[in-house]
Amino acid sequence: MELNWSYNTDNIDWDELSMLYTIAPLGIKPVDYLKKVLKNSMFKCFVYSGTKLIGAGRVVADGVDCAYFCDIVVHPEFQGKGIGKSIVKQLLSFSKKHKKIILYANPGKEAFYEKLGFKPMVTAMAIFQDQDAAVKSGLVKDQ
Ligand SMILES: CC(C)(COP(=O)(O)OP(=O)(O)OC[C@H]1O[C@@H](n2cnc3c(N)ncnc32)[C@H](O)[C@@H]1OP(=O)(O)O)[C@@H](O)C(=O)NCCC(=O)NCCS
Repeated sequence: MELNWSYNTDNIDWDELSMLYTIAPLGIKPVDYLKKVLKNSMFKCFVYSGTKLIGAGRVVADGVDCAYFCDIVVHPEFQGKGIGKSIVKQLLSFSKKHKKIILYANPGKEAFYEKLGFKPMVTAMAIFQDQDAAVKSGLVKDQ
């Protein structure tokens, strides 16, 4: 399968990107949200099969210390073919000068990241805008 890669948003179809997150599924991400988060992301990666957008990911980073991976996604018809792994590897390469690369996995996706070298953090904590929903979905513990 021939894939085409892009590392900026110059030619992105924002509606297609939003739909990719919806069907993956990785939540509802409206176009205005995507424009803002990608503008503020140091690294991004988009994968195309022909002209069809089939994968994406981004990294929020400070250039020295910390890089945060988020919104890694592959179109359902293309999952299980090594594309997600390639996206993460590309973003790891972009982020390699950072002292730490962090992320949180959707529950059930931990093994995908473990195979790419990520280890569970012992003291990681988070404040979500909707803490109750984060507890219900298994992202944080209610202590
Ligand atoms: C998670 C996701 C990005 C993985 O992408 P993918 O292209 O399907 O995964 P790959 O084919 O590159 O898999 C790479 C390796 O991880 C493994 N893997 C993939 N998904 C896995 C899962 N859910 N649990 C355990 N292992 C998994 C594969 O078996 C493969 O192992 P191998 O290298 O030993 O053969 C993709 O399934 C997806 O977009 N899911 C919906 C959105 C989502 O949940 N994103 C992650 C947010 S944290």
